[in-house]
Amino acid sequence: MSKQTIIAPSVLSLDFSNVKEQFQEINKSEAQWLHYDVMDGSFVPNISFGPYVLSCLNKITDKVFDVHLMVRDPKYYTEIFAKENPGYITFHYESCNNKEEMIEIAKNIRDKNIKSGISIKPHTPAYVLDDIIWYFDLVLVMSVEPGFGGQKFDNEAIEKITYLSKLIEYKKLDTLIQVDGGITKETGKLCVDAGANVLVAGSYVFKGDIVERISSLLWNVL
Ligand code: DX5
Ligand code: ZN
Repeated sequence: MSKQTIIAPSVLSLDFSNVKEQFQEINKSEAQWLHYDVMDGSFVPNISFGPYVLSCLNKITDKVFDVHLMVRDPKYYTEIFAKENPGYITFHYESCNNKEEMIEIAKNIRDKNIKSGISIKPHTPAYVLDDIIWYFDLVLVMSVEPGFGGQKFDNEAIEKITYLSKLIEYKKLDTLIQVDGGITKETGKLCVDAGANVLVAGSYVFKGDIVERISSLLWNVL
């Protein structure tokens, strides 16, 4: 049976001069999660926000936060962001030195009763996850180079989603497939048809009527 699609608006595209009003919209929308991008200016050339902003946002919504760590030191940042009780913490495959390190971080996240996620950049093939996927509750396929919102969706993500979906089925796992970057109602549908369960959308959601855009993502995949 296919899982229900989850929409995770990316707060990177939120208008921070208008947080309260935008959150009123988010709170009444059908989005189940909120995607929180953490950038350290080193793993990616951009800097976003730290744990304090997350603790403030947590006070004005009941949505589940999924933290996407785009940082050079995922172990350190996991400790910091775990204190804000997110639902998920996802770090990058490319930010680790070896698979032992990835497994250690994943176990550490799960030990804190948080779901663990691993992300792959556009140039990283999906098969690198073959032997470690069971340590993760979520796999995040980047459909743009991480660092900035508003980029164009890379179609190669579709093949990776298809591959991972078969892998997860073959291994009889519950791992969710999330996709991030350039998601609109059209690209979102392609991803869900290929097996994605969670759609992250920044510009598409926040550059329009928030409630309506979230709803359009969801209804277009039915
Ligand atoms: C990019 C971030 C994304 C970003 C997506 O590095 O990981 O979460 O907010 O933004 P859009 O949906 O505009 O591509
Ligand atoms: Zn992200």
